[in-house]
Amino acid sequence: MIETIYKRRSIRKYQDKPIEEEKLNEVLRCAMYAPSAMNKQPWDFIVCTKRELLDEIQKIHPYSSMLKTAPCCIIVTGNTKTEYATGSYIQDCAAAVENLLLGAASVGLGTCWLGIYPDKKRQEAFREFLNMPQEIMPFCAIAIGYPNEEIMTPNRFDKSKIHFDKW
Ligand SMILES: Cc1cc2nc3c(=O)[nH]c(=O)nc-3n(C[C@H](O)[C@H](O)[C@H](O)COP(=O)(O)O)c2cc1C
Repeated sequence: MIETIYKRRSIRKYQDKPIEEEKLNEVLRCAMYAPSAMNKQPWDFIVCTKRELLDEIQKIHPYSSMLKTAPCCIIVTGNTKTEYATGSYIQDCAAAVENLLLGAASVGLGTCWLGIYPDKKRQEAFREFLNMPQEIMPFCAIAIGYPNEEIMTPNRFDKSKIHFDKW
């Protein structure tokens, strides 16, 4: 587990190879095991694999060119009707996304988190594009597939970020 945390990197080049249904379900299962406020689990996952959808997403998300090669994009959404408190879907979805990224890394899949929230225009563009009802808030998109690049683990441990007792 600890090794997977260090090994996971944002992948922007993918092999031309679809993800097996079992593996996809496994990483989505990882996402659904994330903690959420009052265990509300206010998330949904829209799995896009059609090439025309992956191309359209690149038109509404300015930093998503890795979808040229990625075989799949998962849109993670939060439900404002089922979340515990106003805005708590954001933390819940973020926890689910990180679980998904780590689950994917541990089964040999690469991912890249593409921010949608807090850009309101981008949220609206995704809602309209994928026919989501008003209570469903697009949170982020995740490019996912078999990696076609290898990225070394950077050294990020920074003692100056740690504060004992008071700031
Ligand atoms: C909230 C959020 C939004 C991000 N949005 C994008 C994005 O739109 N496009 C992209 O290529 N990477 C995006 N990333 C990935 C970051 O660039 C990446 O995590 C960061 O550079 C660190 O690299 P690593 O993931 O390999 O550790 C995003 C990451 C986060 C957490």
